[in-house]
Amino acid sequence: MKEFKKPIGVFDSGLGGLTVVKAIRERLPNESIVYLGDTARVPYGNKSKITIQKYSIQITEFLMRKNVKAIVVACNTVSALVLQELSQRVQIPVMGVIEPGVLAAENQSKIKRIGVIGTDATIQSNAYKNLLVSINTELKVFSQPCPLLVPLAEDGWVGDNIVKQILIQYLTPLIKKSVDTLILGCTHYPVFLDFISEIIGPNVKIIDSPSEVANSFFQHLKKYNLLSDNESLGKLECFVTDKTRSYSKIAETFLGSYVSNLHFTDLC
Ligand code: DGL
Repeated sequence: MKEFKKPIGVFDSGLGGLTVVKAIRERLPNESIVYLGDTARVPYGNKSKITIQKYSIQITEFLMRKNVKAIVVACNTVSALVLQELSQRVQIPVMGVIEPGVLAAENQSKIKRIGVIGTDATIQSNAYKNLLVSINTELKVFSQPCPLLVPLAEDGWVGDNIVKQILIQYLTPLIKKSVDTLILGCTHYPVFLDFISEIIGPNVKIIDSPSEVANSFFQHLKKYNLLSDNESLGKLECFVTDKTRSYSKIAETFLGSYVSNLHFTDLC
């Protein structure tokens, strides 16, 4: 099969990366996608680098066996900690989710005060802060770990008032720092967008990384001559490593539509 006709591989620690799949399908509707959500081992954000690296290598190998032409690491935690190691292991392009959000935030922020929310591992890695400051030394970056959000999202807790109270706790320190731009540094967070917008207020620009990632990924595929010439809609095949409670309904929340082709894999 010609390289550009192959599917794209996308993975995340859980189902949250389907927000990136949704954005890629909007931007690149003719591309076929193989998605892997590691539902057996989510969350990654409270795990050590060595464990995250081991899990990510297993998933990359699974996607390579699916004959993908490029990989999108639809997980900020993996992108922050082990993107380089993953790229070095395979001969195909591997793209993370941090750089597109950083470039958009730097571009949007007028007063150069940027807030970043993410998992513990992402925030502790300083990946966002370091990249932001490396492209503009005038930026002031304020980071806030939000460890409860991924488990809540993976369990389908999205619109409840308890979730809103937790978000108020997490966002208040950033409001006090008068940020004018907020990066959602986790692919699970777009499902909380309504609450986040309401709490942070209309004067703060929210950088929703999935759509930034999809735009940047389009450019990547173009650069490597990997854009599909398929004229019909691409197929989506999803795999999970555990059929957790309501996994199919929760997948639908992240993707924004019914996920018909959803299978179990033990990654072997
Ligand atoms: N969606 C992952 C991210 O973007 C969640 C990581 C986790 O499982 O904690 O960071």
